[in-house]
Amino acid sequence: MRILIVHGPNLNMLGTREPQIYGRQTLEEINTALRARAAELGVELETFQSNHEGALIDAIQHHAPQCAGIIINPGALTHYSYALRDALAGTGKPVIEVHLSNVYAREPFRHHSVIAPIAVGQISGLGWRGYLLALEWLATRNTAL
Ligand code: DQA
Repeated sequence: MRILIVHGPNLNMLGTREPQIYGRQTLEEINTALRARAAELGVELETFQSNHEGALIDAIQHHAPQCAGIIINPGALTHYSYALRDALAGTGKPVIEVHLSNVYAREPFRHHSVIAPIAVGQISGLGWRGYLLALEWLATRNTAL
């Protein structure tokens, strides 16, 4: 199984970007932790970050057909990008939306997600470990209890 991890605008600055909100882990540290957990789960990862809406859409169109699911932190695009939403919906793959911070405890413009209605679920406010939880869910969702 292969899973696509997509990081949106400004997430390349993790570690130094408002660490009191987003934590001190860099994006590379988060991807490394994800790769380690993926190896334990027997899952392959494709990771991608861009600050550009079109590049994110190109990557989703390119990689999603080979992937069983998508984990995405769309950054601020969460709140207004219909184009990103359409690209994700168009894949037909399960999408999990992840936010490091609890967007519902922040500014009102962050309370609305245009991505959430096409996602199977959303994790918000659990820091970098939210990505690991999303990965575990996708990797094991077809496993009988
Ligand atoms: C974010 C929340 C967004 O509102 C913000 O624009 C980000 C990061 C988060 O991970 O908490 O860039 O998606």
